[in-house]
Order: sequence, then C-alpha cells, then structure tokens
Amino acid sequence: IKHLRSAADLDAETATLILDTAGEMAALSGREVKKLPALRGRTVVNLFYEDSTRTRISFEAAAKRLSADVINFSAKGSSVSKGESLKDTALTLQAMGADAVVIRHSASGAPHRLAGWVDGSVVNAGDGTHEHPTQALLDAYTMRSRLGRLDGLRVAIVGDVLHSRVARSNVLLLTTLGAQVTVVGPPTLIPVDVAAALSDKLQVSYDLDEVLPDSDVVMMLRVQTERMQDSYFPSAREYSRRYGLDVPRLKRLPEHAIVMHPGPMNRGMEIAPEVADSPRSTIVEQVANGVSVRMAVLYLLLGGK
Ligand code: CP
Repeated sequence: IKHLRSAADLDAETATLILDTAGEMAALSGREVKKLPALRGRTVVNLFYEDSTRTRISFEAAAKRLSADVINFSAKGSSVSKGESLKDTALTLQAMGADAVVIRHSASGAPHRLAGWVDGSVVNAGDGTHEHPTQALLDAYTMRSRLGRLDGLRVAIVGDVLHSRVARSNVLLLTTLGAQVTVVGPPTLIPVDVAAALSDKLQVSYDLDEVLPDSDVVMMLRVQTERMQDSYFPSAREYSRRYGLDVPRLKRLPEHAIVMHPGPMNRGMEIAPEVADSPRSTIVEQVANGVSVRMAVLYLLLGGK
C-alpha cells in the first residue's frame, strides 16, 4: 500500500506483516542498534494541526531511528494562523520534497484530501472523530505480545465510542484480525453506524459489569469532554459510577486479562489511578510499542532498504 489513511486500508495479511515487522524493529532496538540506515536520504514531515504528545513524539522517534530526515510542522506558529489552507500548506511541503507526510487534523477526512495533493505517502495520525490507524496497530501489537494471539481474543472497548477515532480504527483492525470485539458504553455514546455497519462482527453492550468476566482485554477510552454535549453526558460522577474501571471492577476480569488506554487519560473518570498504575495495565508499554509499530509503517510504506 502507498498510504495508511484508515485501518480499512489493511487486509489481514498486510496488518500482520506490519506487526511482524514491528517485532523485528523492537528486537533490533533491544540489541541496542540505536539507528538503522533504512530510510537514509528520505524526508518525513510531521504535520500536526491538533495537539499531541505520544503520536507526534513517537513518529519523530520512529523516523529518526530509521535515519530519515524529519521536519516537524505545527499549525501553531505557522502561516495557518494567517489563513493558509491545508492544500497550500501541503503544496509547500511537496515543494520541499516530502517522501511521507504524517498528518493529525481536527477534520475527519483530511488525510484523504491530502493524499490527492502530494506525491508522497500519507499516514493518518488521527483525523477528527474518524480514525487513528497507527494507534490501532500498536494496540493490536501490544495485545499479541502480551496474550500471544489476536484471533478469537475477546476485546471490550469501553466508554466514549461516539467521539473516538481510536475505537473506530480498533474495531476495523481487530475484526479484520479475527478478534471478538464488544463496544460498551452509554447508549448516547455508541454511534448507530458502528453498531449497524458491523453488526455481524461486533457486539454492543451497555453493561460493563456483565462484559468484564468474559474479556481478555479491556480498552478504556478517554471521555472527550471537549466534544461532549449535555445530552450525551449527564454527569462525570454518574458516568464514572457506571462505566469507570475501578479496583472492584478490575477484580471481575479474568486473571490473565489486560487493561489498555490510548492516553491521554482522565484519571478518576474512565479509569481509577490504582488501575492505570497496576501490573495489569499496558498503558506505558503501548507507548513504547508505538515507536516500533510506526517504524514498521514508515519502513514498509517508503520501501526501506
Ligand atoms: N493516543 C494518542 O493519540 O495520544 P496523543 O494525542 O498524545 O498523540
């Protein structure tokens, strides 16, 4: 494939190749090979119109470990504040010879538009409420490395599904790879299209306590209060009482089950601090795995040697 705009761009074979390549990248890093020459002479542009900690730093680290030249563009402090459009910004980057553009944007679909304007590969680093495919890949990588498989794995994705690009990409990728996915949350925060479009592959539940004992993985989502309307979200206390993962709920999970969160977390809202910091939590591991997975994506898209 040339671009990674959506988890739907990946069939099972391609997704597995990315996960296997990420494993090789991680093994090389473990042997203290600080830098690989695979993308020497190639340029990766990180084009971030929305805030990010993990994804932006992770893509930068990944590109640098592959010896690519990295240009970091943040909309803040750029000519975007003077009204310059995404298209004109893209054409400017194109003129500077970008081989890959990694884009985060508040508008769903921005990576698809960008791919029509630049010659290089486009990687979606999160677009609006639409998708975040490399997050889904690093989540799948983490599940596979902790639990040994994805096929048949029972994964509960919990909380603000409506606004979550992480949930959308995970549903697409995990079902492609044979996992049994259940989305859990209040009815107002589960989009009808997700439930309807994937009804044969996807379970929907409004009762977290019922789902936990039958889950191998529980993935808690950030409550996106900045995108919330009162009609969706009655109160933080009520939400936390019904859908927050606290210590008593953690005990309902099977002993082998893991707890995930893409970050950033609302500690005390969707996840209790004791749970986030428990040995069952893979939150920090997910961040570390993100670098290997993004190395694999850049390497494979750019035909690294
Ligand atoms: N998980 C994730 O996308 O985090 P950032 O917003 O910090 O990049």
